[in-house]
Amino acid sequence: MKIIVTGGAGFIGGNFIHYMLSEHPEDRIVCLDKLTYAGNPETLAPVIDHPNFSFSRGDIADRDYVFDLFSREKPDAVVNFAAESHVDRSIEDPGLFLRTNVIGTGILMDASLRCGVRRFHQVSTDEVYGDLPLDRPDLFFTEQTPLHTSSPYSASKAAADLLALSYYRTYGLFVTISRCSNNYGPYHFPEKLIPLMIVNALRDEPLPVYGKGENVRDWLYVVDHCRAIDLILRDGRAGEVYNVGGHNERTNLCVVEEILRRLGKNPDLIRFVTDRPGHDRRYAIDPSKIKAELGWEPTTGFEEGIGRTIDWYLGHREWWERILSGEYRDYYEKMYGDR
Ligand code: NAD
Ligand code: DAU
Repeated sequence: MKIIVTGGAGFIGGNFIHYMLSEHPEDRIVCLDKLTYAGNPETLAPVIDHPNFSFSRGDIADRDYVFDLFSREKPDAVVNFAAESHVDRSIEDPGLFLRTNVIGTGILMDASLRCGVRRFHQVSTDEVYGDLPLDRPDLFFTEQTPLHTSSPYSASKAAADLLALSYYRTYGLFVTISRCSNNYGPYHFPEKLIPLMIVNALRDEPLPVYGKGENVRDWLYVVDHCRAIDLILRDGRAGEVYNVGGHNERTNLCVVEEILRRLGKNPDLIRFVTDRPGHDRRYAIDPSKIKAELGWEPTTGFEEGIGRTIDWYLGHREWWERILSGEYRDYYEKMYGDR
């Protein structure tokens, strides 16, 4: 199978490419990535010379480029990770999120129809369901939960999901969608909670926790997400949505304290800062459908996963120090300077 993987220089797409080249050495992977601030060629350095891998720099919202690439490569399948993915940035610049996440997804599906792509997988998020109250631990997101978005980011992802389902129903494109909870692991850009807290703690910088740190996220080790997508890509049913999550809910404060404890750092580094506008309270996935249909279950628990993640950041200082020395400095000052 030849697969175009978009957004493969980012966090989950990069992990997916590493996973696929090692699990399915017979497949060919073409990575399409614009290399925005979040895309990092160093994430793909370990596979760049792999005989079954190639890279094309481009924008999923550039119709001519996408059609040209698809007609040259003639992929069997497409997995769309490419997106603007950070909620806080979507609050600053919603238009960019609409362009990439909605228009870009539409263009990829147009090219897929034109070039006879057999499977199109849209990587979505549990954020399309909105949030759950903190005092109802009995409630979970199922695939039937109504879409109810809070941020421009989640609204753009929900729009892309609906567009994808419309391409299935109207044009017969073989579409599948996965909606996963929060991922963590290697190659995670340090604007997101876990990597930001690890790198700040390692540098003895303050750890900015939004509000009171009570919000709850359902954390999944990234390789478990990659395996779920691989299963859906091979055996998922057309027009279906699959929730992916491992019942691992924690408050943000609990996650941050665990990182500090493991690094032997002082909890005094924690700073409670102004909350995110529209901040979703709790995410919690019910993964029964993917378990029943495809036999998927997470294999890495949080204790093991967070340990591996911290070890990775300890062992790859050059990967994140280079990020911290670039445009990231201005971003950090803007978001946290006088928060
Ligand atoms: P990321 O921000 O780390 O990476 C995004 C990648 O997409 C980058 O390599 C970037 O260069 C590329 N990209 C952005 N705009 C592009 C464009 N116009 N054309 C081509 N490439 C472009 O994101 P991530 O955290 O790896 O998330 C990947 C996907 O998974 C996203 O669709 C996101 O919505 C979804 N998701 C993320 C999580 C999570 O916890 N991170 C959970 C569930 C779903
Ligand atoms: O649930 C899946 C989603 O998870 C993905 O769709 C998104 O792409 C991904 O970014 C993530 O969204 P979150 O908003 O949950 O992730 P983030 O790491 O930005 O924040 C996690 C929690 O930590 C959230 O409650 C906000 C809080 N937070 C975040 C940052 C960056 C802080 O308290 N301080 C911070 O500095």
